[in-house]
Amino acid sequence: MKIINEFNEMRQIVKKMKREDLSVGFVPTMGYLHDGHLSLVKAAKVDNDIIVVSIFVNPTQFGPNEDLDTYPRDLEKDQSLLENLDVDYLFFPKVEQMYPGGYGTYVNVESGLTNKLCGKSRPGHFKGVTTIVSKLFNIVNPDKAYFGQKDAQQVSVINRMVKDLNFDIEIIAVPIVRENDGLAMSSRNVNLSEKERQDALTLSKSLNKAKDLILLDNIKKTDIIKNEMMEIIESVDSSKIDYIEIVDMENLESIDIVEGKVLIALAVHIGKTRLIDNIIMEA
Ligand code: PAF
Repeated sequence: MKIINEFNEMRQIVKKMKREDLSVGFVPTMGYLHDGHLSLVKAAKVDNDIIVVSIFVNPTQFGPNEDLDTYPRDLEKDQSLLENLDVDYLFFPKVEQMYPGGYGTYVNVESGLTNKLCGKSRPGHFKGVTTIVSKLFNIVNPDKAYFGQKDAQQVSVINRMVKDLNFDIEIIAVPIVRENDGLAMSSRNVNLSEKERQDALTLSKSLNKAKDLILLDNIKKTDIIKNEMMEIIESVDSSKIDYIEIVDMENLESIDIVEGKVLIALAVHIGKTRLIDNIIMEA
């Protein structure tokens, strides 16, 4: 695996690959890789000749009081995980490369997709995400790009951006990877104490409860479902709910009655760590 720090070098490499008619699969990440990220790489390997993974902890998607400084990093471990999967190129630019002095251009999805769910409590977050993802798309120019379904709203927002800005890139959403006990894999899980790690299981438990209520008990009223989920999460004292929402999968609008394809999504602080999780259901 070759590590590339310069965006121009990355661009030239991909140009050469394209001239040789090789397809390029791209997995953008912020590093501290876990099996969720590796599942994206594995999916990319099935579909493409050349795999590019980027690691860049993107400052513009973190709010002023968020965890940019404490976001976990371990380049050596990430490198060896990617080498084990035979990744061809790791693009690892410095912040000054991506946002040099005088930087002033941002990409913002202004449909209603960005001001709800995580966008409500993290204003500016998706603007940072769509800005960096467009920059990475312009540099790597992949045929396909892979994103985890754990960030369901991010997938919707990126799909919207790709459509609106005519990027010729296919976006592939890869299912959530969970620990054996149900906790959705996340780089931030490392920040949980042993007790918080246990408390965090209430997130997946509440989603499973929602699924059972809908599929087994035929309950369709979302306020009943959300209340039951809330009870499970609030049963642990380390939890502070940011949101629990049941929304239409297409436009992410809140719904009163579960019908068709819906996203049940939540964000919860466990201690100081903000975790998200979701399930997609067809009812
Ligand atoms: O999902 C992430 O890790 C980040 O939001 C992404 C897509 C790499 C952009 O920084």
